[in-house]
Amino acid sequence: MITTDILLAKQTLLNDDIIGLPTETVYGLAGNAFSVTAVKKIFELKKRPLFNPLIVHIGSLSYLPKVATIVPINALKLAEAFWPGPLTLLMKKQNRVPSIITAGMDTVAVRMPNHSIALSLLQQIDFPLAAPSANPFGSISPTAAIHVADYFKDYLKIVLDGGECKNGIESTIIGFENNQTIVFRLGAISIEEIENCVGKTILANKENNKPATPGMLLKHYSPRTITILTTDVINTVEKHKNYRIGLLLFSSANEVEIKSANKIAHCEVLSATGNLTEAAKNLYAAMHRLDKLGLDIIIAEQAPEIGLGKSINDRLNRASQN
Ligand code: TXA
Ligand code: MG
Repeated sequence: MITTDILLAKQTLLNDDIIGLPTETVYGLAGNAFSVTAVKKIFELKKRPLFNPLIVHIGSLSYLPKVATIVPINALKLAEAFWPGPLTLLMKKQNRVPSIITAGMDTVAVRMPNHSIALSLLQQIDFPLAAPSANPFGSISPTAAIHVADYFKDYLKIVLDGGECKNGIESTIIGFENNQTIVFRLGAISIEEIENCVGKTILANKENNKPATPGMLLKHYSPRTITILTTDVINTVEKHKNYRIGLLLFSSANEVEIKSANKIAHCEVLSATGNLTEAAKNLYAAMHRLDKLGLDIIIAEQAPEIGLGKSINDRLNRASQN
């Protein structure tokens, strides 16, 4: 069921069936965005609540008017700067986009993925692809074809293999309201990069009364193993010394000291040198590995709160909610 056959993927989609789709961020569970039958299958397989809308993937900027009616100037600037790439833009939807995709809202989330296989497939079909991340609702996102196959086994006919995802963390989601640029989800493009392109942004959250997107539940991206997020790994390990501990370290700065003081069942280092891009790429695969080991607890180290570090911490924070 893991395959590199793009024609087979196309045929499956033409039958209103769904596939595992590689992108540069994470794998998606993709179907024809104009087919309510296909979109319903996505929600069912993922066990996703219907209030949580899906992202629509397109193969070129010129396709955008087929899914969005109004393209704000800052949306166009961002699309030109970052597409194809890990950036999702919220815009007024075209009538043709079924309301099940947008959870009844009048905005649709659109992105153009930067992955040769996804782009090649999109160029061979005349419809866009609706695709959430290919994990059951709430669990760790998939960054390799095998993660998708493990999650859905025989319920998914094919997973198109595009290798390991090179960004490894979901797209950044940006919306536009009252002349403001609003960050709805932190992701693979940092706020700093967005602001360099379009100026000041606002982070959607409860404090400024901008609800985060419906899907941004506090508990999300979660391993089954209890996970603690901390800035002080040494102390947290000390407090749990009778447990079977797995470590998820941001860098190897304190690795030797921590391991020599305590018994650690397994240790994952996201980036030995503390490189944020490398750490983001490795995050979910490391979480998948740790979660398979039957540990009592995962102790995760917080990344520095700059650039992609904010996106990594966002995911770790949600992963560590009970
Ligand atoms: O990198 C990604 O974005 C990946 C790949 C597969 O493209 N997709 C992804 O999809 O992360 P998903 O469904 O796991 O997350 C999509 C997020 C959800 O939090 C959802 O609430 C938000 O996008 N979203 C979708 N449509 C929206 C809309 N019209 N308004 C506000 N938020 C929306
Ligand atoms: Mg997701």
